[in-house]
Amino acid sequence: MKKKIIYEGKAKKIFSSAKPNELIQHFKDDATAFNNKKKSIIPGKGIINNFISELLMTKLSELNIPNHFIKRINMREQIIYKLDIIPIEVVIRNVSSGSIVKRLGIDEGKVLSKPLVEFFYKKDELDDPLISDEHILNFGWATEHELEEIISLSLRINDFLSGYFMSINVRLIDFKLEFGRMWKNDELIIMLADEISPDNCRLWDTNTNKKLDKDRFRHNLGDEDVGYKEIAFRLGVLSEKEFKKVLKNEI
Ligand SMILES: Nc1ncnc2c1ncn2[C@@H]1O[C@H](COP(=O)(O)OP(=O)(O)OP(=O)(O)O)[C@@H](O)[C@H]1O
Ligand SMILES: [Mg+2]
Repeated sequence: MKKKIIYEGKAKKIFSSAKPNELIQHFKDDATAFNNKKKSIIPGKGIINNFISELLMTKLSELNIPNHFIKRINMREQIIYKLDIIPIEVVIRNVSSGSIVKRLGIDEGKVLSKPLVEFFYKKDELDDPLISDEHILNFGWATEHELEEIISLSLRINDFLSGYFMSINVRLIDFKLEFGRMWKNDELIIMLADEISPDNCRLWDTNTNKKLDKDRFRHNLGDEDVGYKEIAFRLGVLSEKEFKKVLKNEI
């Protein structure tokens, strides 16, 4: 069966697959920031994000945290469950950085007294505005039960990811998650969707606070690719040698 493109986003393409309840998620090298106002290509980023997301989603499954990942099929693609995506971006912050610093006028790098969960409405035309749980319930984007599940899963994911990154000498500053719904045994369940990678996590080296994520690209910090590579190599999903070989073979 020929795969058909269903959606092309800023960082990924979504294709149909042989099974109606599954999709193929293809990771591109395109880097965008500030809602597409800044654009570039970071060679190999898509490969790295595919591998990192595979590893982290697999670990989450081992902790019984439901997520859409089924199987990686090649360097840039993975099979995922097709979900009914909830139009909310969930941001979990451990340390102040990014939009919260500007919005509230606080210093960057402040360790928050407890993880802070924020919601943004997924609407590019509106620049993904900050919303409260009241908006989510009032406009019916999720039910009260679903929202409780989303918050509880997000905090469990934060606990796991914080510890996992700490073990490779990386601080998890904040990250963005997306969730969706899927029928399982006659029950509608909430599942983690999208990706977990340096594109949607802020990751700082523990010893030096060097930024190892998309902020290098967002703020022209130089060596845009270095964060992605460093995280992939420290996590052990790809070695430098393998990565170079794959990139060379693609050209
Ligand atoms: N399991 C899934 N089932 C259906 N759609 C998914 C699933 N996981 C992720 N998606 C959607 O696929 C798209 C991935 O593409 P990408 O991340 O490039 O989008 P984007 O440019 O960030 O735009 P968007 O604002 O739609 O997220 C997103 O719209 C995301 O919500
Ligand atoms: Mg996206």
